Amino acid sequence: MNEIVLDSPLDMHLHLREGDMLKRVAKYSASSFSGAVVMPNLNPPVDSSERLESYKDEILRHCDGEVFEPYMALFFRDSLKESDLIKAKESGALIVKLYPKGATTNSQSGSEEILSSANKRVFEMISEVGLKLSIHGESNGFVLDREDEFLPIYEEIAKNFPKLGVVIEHMSTKNALDSLNKYENLSATITLHHIALSLDDLIGGALNPHHFCKPIIKTPHDRDALLEAALEANKKVCFGSDSAPHYRDKKECANGAAGIFSTPIALPFLAHIFDKHGKVQNLQKFVSDNAREIYGVNPPKKEVRIVKQESPIEAHYDEVVPLCAGKKLDWSIL
Ligand code: DOR
Ligand code: ZN
Repeated sequence: MNEIVLDSPLDMHLHLREGDMLKRVAKYSASSFSGAVVMPNLNPPVDSSERLESYKDEILRHCDGEVFEPYMALFFRDSLKESDLIKAKESGALIVKLYPKGATTNSQSGSEEILSSANKRVFEMISEVGLKLSIHGESNGFVLDREDEFLPIYEEIAKNFPKLGVVIEHMSTKNALDSLNKYENLSATITLHHIALSLDDLIGGALNPHHFCKPIIKTPHDRDALLEAALEANKKVCFGSDSAPHYRDKKECANGAAGIFSTPIALPFLAHIFDKHGKVQNLQKFVSDNAREIYGVNPPKKEVRIVKQESPIEAHYDEVVPLCAGKKLDWSIL
């Protein structure tokens, strides 16, 4: 197959930022995807329907008139009331995103005790209102164990709130995949970097800060298990890039920021991987159909053409360096 026409590809986990960075990166999502779930970890976070509406307007202003639906995410607070959730849903929210305190960029006001009674009350309301609970599931333990240590919490929530749709965001380990398959109401997003890279690509040779993210990329064993779930288009997983742009000087320094930028080359890179494994026929499911089922969305119609034609990954896109800069992909986006 030398050409794939994707029907309304979706990115179910995206960081678009605001202001100058949003202006620089929004076009890459708007030209490649029909819609994306936009994360709320701005400073301050997107934690009210007013803020959510103005952020959505700001995003749309930078989409150059492209067909593109920003599915909004509300920042989780234990003080959320049912009326807040209803209003957020009416303003375009699809998920409520829970961050453990300090787990990642702009999560200082995240949750200190995930299973507190105040949080559980909000979980119940999220389920009643019909939003999804999306979680950055990492403990504050040893960096390679953080996701696995969080798995009992995902399972506890899934078990106690069987009507609540819970999303394991940017699933990064084989063990998480095992948890996912135990509960009907658990689903997961999988990034490009967690199926394409392992720790060797971050620290195995020269240090590459542009491959540093949270949750950190893991062992080849984990990568291969996630890759298989993506290639088989396991119905409980869908694509969420977690593309998280930071200016180059904020990455190439001491105290470098976590986040991998992948949006401009996400679809050709996925086509490259799926083709290499003889699974091109499953790409549509992984980048769109599964998400429509899991989230119950009906994205705006948009055909995106990917052709088998070599293209190098640029050294940088504006001021942001992508993953695998300089690598040649066998596929390009038209
Ligand atoms: O690496 C990451 N960067 N992980 C996250 O969860 C947040 C993101 C960011 O916002 O930069
Ligand atoms: Zn993220």
